[in-house]
Amino acid sequence: MASVTSLSDSVQQHLASALAASLPEAAGADPLLRRSDRADYQANGILALAKKAKANPRELAAQVVSHVVTGDVIQDVEVSGPGFLNITVTDRAITENLAARAADPEGRLGVPRAERPGTTVIDYAQPNVAKEMHVGHLRSAVIGDSVVQLLEFTGESVVRRHHIGDWGTQFGMLIQYLDEHPHELDHKDAQVSGEEAMSNLDRLYKAARKLFDSDEEFKTRARRRVVDLQAGDPHTLAMWQKFVDESKIYFFSVFEKLDMEIRDPDIVGESGYNDMLAETCRLLEESGVAVRSEGALCVFFDDVKGPDGKPVPLIVQKSDGGYGYAATDLSAIRDRVFNLKANTLLYVVDARQSLHFKMVFETARRAGWLNDDVKAVQLAFGTVLGKDGKPFKTREGETVKLVDLLDEAVERASAVVREKAQDLSEEEIAERGAQVGIGAVKYADLSTSANRDYKFDLDQMVSLNGDTSVYLQYAYARIQSILRKAGETRPQPHPELALHEAERALGLHIDAFAETVAEAAAEYAPHKLAAYLYQLASLYTSFYDKCPVLKAETPEQVGNRLFLCDVTARTLHQGMALLGIRTPERL
Ligand code: ARG
Repeated sequence: MASVTSLSDSVQQHLASALAASLPEAAGADPLLRRSDRADYQANGILALAKKAKANPRELAAQVVSHVVTGDVIQDVEVSGPGFLNITVTDRAITENLAARAADPEGRLGVPRAERPGTTVIDYAQPNVAKEMHVGHLRSAVIGDSVVQLLEFTGESVVRRHHIGDWGTQFGMLIQYLDEHPHELDHKDAQVSGEEAMSNLDRLYKAARKLFDSDEEFKTRARRRVVDLQAGDPHTLAMWQKFVDESKIYFFSVFEKLDMEIRDPDIVGESGYNDMLAETCRLLEESGVAVRSEGALCVFFDDVKGPDGKPVPLIVQKSDGGYGYAATDLSAIRDRVFNLKANTLLYVVDARQSLHFKMVFETARRAGWLNDDVKAVQLAFGTVLGKDGKPFKTREGETVKLVDLLDEAVERASAVVREKAQDLSEEEIAERGAQVGIGAVKYADLSTSANRDYKFDLDQMVSLNGDTSVYLQYAYARIQSILRKAGETRPQPHPELALHEAERALGLHIDAFAETVAEAAAEYAPHKLAAYLYQLASLYTSFYDKCPVLKAETPEQVGNRLFLCDVTARTLHQGMALLGIRTPERL
């Protein structure tokens, strides 16, 4: 057993047994333990329990105090106000707890795995073929990647699905154009960069569009092409594949820039469900979940109405027989539930698609594909805003290209690194610049709760002060430099030493790492982990200001403080990794 019982859990257990000894009917009740400013912890649960048992809260609290076993973990417990307890833990318990975390052979800092892990299929990082990626795609990728890391760390089996937009009517136009201009996607060199791939696609898209809008005959030919595509005509499919392949070159280059691992087999776009669409419709129609209305196959909802008060249905099949976004998503649910055996379907998608998912999930529930044991959740994210608080656009009003943004972030970060760098080579500055710049973009996204909009402000993101990834990365690098100076690779703890207030605060916060990770994973809330890490770095800073490390009074104290530095650094490193952010050893 590598997992470590947290201090808060052992205090909780001590209190629960004292409570059961004082009031037998309260056996198993929660004493409601919280971290507190006045003591290490405060227990708030006794008041309610006393009321329930018609006992005097103050007297019950005093009785509990008399039953608490002190000495090993609990230093002191006292009644504060009617029915509240203030609890202080021993310095030894704090250091021993950290020592057990540091000694975890799996390197997980004693963080336990979930008791009953399941299988989650997560739908994230889903750009569209032949289209430029924008900030919305950034959010899905960054949030999704962090949630994947968090879930896997808790022991969940995670299946990743990149539901790329690779199907639909616009492909008729593109394919027809390419068929008539066969060399437009040919490459001079074998190696094509992501940017070249995108500019090829962009050029082709614009040319095809122009022809489509001006030439009626081309339009007709393009429309016919959509039908060929959906019917699986081999030549048409081969042309379509060229667009997908060219787009993937581009996607992979962006994901690499984002320092994110996206695997080809996990890319299962809309086209991947083509063979299931007819059956999905048949199942829905036969079960009566969907009905024909003006030729279209529709699902109706009591609470979804348009501005005119008329019900707005989910259209599963259009009256011309075509299938759309909803049919694909419903088929994907069947695949994920019945083939991939998911217990949870998670969708990291823009909040502006919430109505779509609400209707899709409700349809799947009516069909029996989702139920109490298999649930679907949209992790909806808000909009990225410009400095002016409006949706992020270029000065010309166009959507901002994601690559341009990332390049600018890296450039700004490199300038910051260069300014502070003391002994870094040009090559190192470039590498750190990328780690700091991309980290800054990810952290800004992850540190606000996903459903909120946030302002994309590069100046703020790469600032060394405040709640930024750079601040956290510097805290980590500073610790590494101290450890290097001390020449200690694995400093040893000294549980016999008394601790300074700042050491205690730091130690108790590190103890809460496991709890924070569990909460962030269960709630799909990376921002809770980000907030935890920021506080960790702040507590470390105040420890460092108040407690000399290398110049501490005794060799044991030097050792113990180096040990504290080391556990802090490892916690920072692990936490940042769960956010998908690097922690360079030197900055
Ligand atoms: N490709 C879509 C977009 O760019 C997002 C896909 C979301 N996932 C899904 N299963 N519908 O908006």
